[in-house]
Amino acid sequence: MHKITIAIDGYSSTGKSTVAKQLADSLGYVYVDSGAMYRAVTLYAMQNGIISKKHFDTEKLKESLSSIHLKFKKEAGWNKAHIFLNGTDVENEIRNLEVSEFVSPIATVPEVRTKLVAQQQQMGQEKGVVMDGRDIGTVVFPNAELKIFMNASAPERAQRRYKELLERGDVVTFDEILKNIKERDHIDTTREDSPLRKAADAIEIDNSEMNLEDQFHVVLQLAKDRIAGRV
Ligand code: CDP
Repeated sequence: MHKITIAIDGYSSTGKSTVAKQLADSLGYVYVDSGAMYRAVTLYAMQNGIISKKHFDTEKLKESLSSIHLKFKKEAGWNKAHIFLNGTDVENEIRNLEVSEFVSPIATVPEVRTKLVAQQQQMGQEKGVVMDGRDIGTVVFPNAELKIFMNASAPERAQRRYKELLERGDVVTFDEILKNIKERDHIDTTREDSPLRKAADAIEIDNSEMNLEDQFHVVLQLAKDRIAGRV
């Protein structure tokens, strides 16, 4: 059966990665979490004195880009691929609130985006890929056969992320998560390079009132129709 490219974009914590992963597993496609790449670059910047609460040295970040090597690897027993930063598995570390607080400023830097977009396009070269992010349907794969744009209310999204982080054992408050989500929404939608926006041909899904199962069935049906060339 012919393979397609599926782009899933949307606001922070809308469940993009959950549905993208379910979809990839069910279709036998590769799942790529593009946000993990921006998060890993952010972790590098935090570890190397490039960004902190007090400063952001964009010149040093640009100079460091050739020293940042990202790779996704999946080992037996893992339910998803982990991201490796210069050979180290950072999958868990990149999900903490501190990385979330710095990632949107890092993602505004055009040189960072150019580097990561090139790697993402290469990963999707042979189709059969589901990629989630902010600019997948608009910039990375403008010709994707299926584009989904996900949304949900900010308090609902904050509640989901809060629960996720508590389950990991992180010490966070609901208010700081909500604040982070709103800040990232603002930076991601207003940046000059590749702002988050719905592609003209994307299908919008607001899942504030949908459970994971319902949402998955809606998206799976859309994918099956596109693969069969029905719509
Ligand atoms: O999972 P969550 O929705 O919190 O975010 P993510 O997908 O891990 O992405 C983290 C951040 O990376 C976003 O807030 C964006 O600033 C940036 N990002 C981006 O600019 N472009 C992408 N394709 C993916 C993420």
